[in-house]
Amino acid sequence: MTQIFAHRGYSASFAENTLVAFLEAEKAGADGVELDVQLTKDGELVVIHDEKVDRTTSGNGLVKDFLFKDLRKLNANKKSTKKEPIPTLTEVFEWLTSNKLLCNIELKNAFFPYEGMEEKVIHLIRKFDLMDRIILSSFNHYSIVNCYRLAPEIETAPLFLEGIYMPWIYSQAIRAKGIHPRYSTMPDDVMINTLNNGIAVRPYTINKETDMHRLFKINCTAIITDDPIKALKLRKQY
Ligand code: G3P
Ligand code: CA
Repeated sequence: MTQIFAHRGYSASFAENTLVAFLEAEKAGADGVELDVQLTKDGELVVIHDEKVDRTTSGNGLVKDFLFKDLRKLNANKKSTKKEPIPTLTEVFEWLTSNKLLCNIELKNAFFPYEGMEEKVIHLIRKFDLMDRIILSSFNHYSIVNCYRLAPEIETAPLFLEGIYMPWIYSQAIRAKGIHPRYSTMPDDVMINTLNNGIAVRPYTINKETDMHRLFKINCTAIITDDPIKALKLRKQY
């Protein structure tokens, strides 16, 4: 059965990449969550999507220029007066130890290399013994190769914005067990061929019912969606 990953948590209804959004995804019955990780100036792993804090928080500036203690003062629930802090990856892992959810960590290192981030993330995954429940992804495929080199026991999956010819060959070449394509760039026959070659396919970001049906029909490994409740309701038909 196709798994449902809540993109940035249950982000259709709750502030993205906050503990509340992850808890609500769990309550909804999602199989997993997707989240984005970056590093503060003093080396704390924090969960936030944009390189700048401006869109999602009460502050402004680059994540990499903040000390953690200052980043922590920001409200990541910008549209509400109920303050939510930007979570650390450690806090998310503490929550993960209380459930059985899967977690797709996107390393946000396509623009800034975040020296040493892969090592820090892997150290934390091992510390919490979450190796079997984590998938590491990135648009930076050098980083994907590095993650495999550092931790071959943890699943990796390159992210793609554009289409790719015979993606299973690419994935096998970089030792990735999965691929995370932008859903509109990968035709059904390519997805089916990739799945038949033993590579997990988890397209993003699937919010329309027609796209959900299309992917449930071909028994895609997982979908990454902002709206896990909508997806769970439709999945009952399969
Ligand atoms: O991991 C899938 C998706 O999250 C990648 O795009 O921009 O939402 O991080 P973005
Ligand atoms: Ca992401």
